Amino acid sequence: MGWLYRNFIRPALFQQDSEQIHDWTMRVLSMAARRPALCDLLNGFFGSPPLPVEAFGLRFPSPVGIAAGMDKYAAALPAWEALGFGFCELGGVTWHPQPGNPKPRLFRVAPNDALINRMGFNNPGAEAIAERLSRWRAAGRWPNHPVGINLGQSKVTPLEKAAEDYANSFRALYPFGDFFVVNVSSPNTPNLRQLQDKAALDEILVALREVARHYSAEKPILVKVAPDLSFQAIDDILELATQCQLAGIVATNTTILRPQSSAPELQRLYAEPGGLSGRPLRERSTEIIRHISKQTRGALPIIGVGGIFDAADAWEKIAAGASLVQVYTGMIYRGPRIAREIVNGLKLRSRGRAPAV
Ligand SMILES: Cc1cc2nc3c(=O)[nH]c(=O)nc-3n(C[C@H](O)[C@H](O)[C@H](O)COP(=O)(O)O)c2cc1C
Repeated sequence: MGWLYRNFIRPALFQQDSEQIHDWTMRVLSMAARRPALCDLLNGFFGSPPLPVEAFGLRFPSPVGIAAGMDKYAAALPAWEALGFGFCELGGVTWHPQPGNPKPRLFRVAPNDALINRMGFNNPGAEAIAERLSRWRAAGRWPNHPVGINLGQSKVTPLEKAAEDYANSFRALYPFGDFFVVNVSSPNTPNLRQLQDKAALDEILVALREVARHYSAEKPILVKVAPDLSFQAIDDILELATQCQLAGIVATNTTILRPQSSAPELQRLYAEPGGLSGRPLRERSTEIIRHISKQTRGALPIIGVGGIFDAADAWEKIAAGASLVQVYTGMIYRGPRIAREIVNGLKLRSRGRAPAV
């Protein structure tokens, strides 16, 4: 199936505009998600064996999740379980609905197994997502795995009102998320990454804790960091982790840096503004995970994301200190069996039947 995807399906899909293909795929998955029989069929082809993991008080059927940005509209919620994922992270969701940046805003860098995106948090807003999630729940289509929700800042909100903006989304979505990720690391909302600054992030986390105080069950809050931060800046965020009872760190978002290339086609693509994901991000994201794990002596759970295409890549992140991993770009290049292939590979490694990387 992986062979079929790489040799026939992917070349056909890659003839089309990348965002169009993404939208088309999401429409198909959303249609399948509403039909239990189709989900069962998908699960037969793509489902993963169990490889349970516990992290920040939640039980994950496997450590491989779908990363933020894939299902920004919560359109296909039950489909991720059918495709073998052990959790999903929906969004990024902002308080205000917003169209995102003008198209084109998603580019494939196929020779390097990479994507560049400057989507800019296109989403219908937190209240509309809450409404959609309540419909999934009412229809009895809620998945058995943990559901994370990625929160971003609305473009119309000035930076000094960021805490209130995040808190509004958090309040609207609190009944639905099993965990929440504060995304202060997307390169595609002007100045957003300044919120990684310790004081600004502290203000956001205090505002979220204030919202959570009104509920009986506290839900885990993680922060997603950029791969372009210095280790010093990461350490500042880690200081907040204890202070603000952070449940963990998601490492990492896309990078604004570009690999060197002398090929004119690659130079043209790499000149596109936005965040780079996929293969060229793998090493840096692993370095950040290793650093966080070392600084926290492994005590703070890490979701590792960036350039994971197979079990060896996932194992590299786990060996560096990640408890869970996520994929986005790998799914585009490897196809819908990616979760199953990674979980199978990790199972073999955990039984010591394959050499560790
Ligand atoms: C098209 C696209 C949209 C994304 N949207 C979001 C988002 O809304 N919030 C977020 O935290 N990360 C977002 N990401 C980043 C991914 O979640 C992930 O951190 C990054 O792509 C690195 O993983 P990968 O190399 O497996 O793609 C997006 C990535 C892509 C390619």
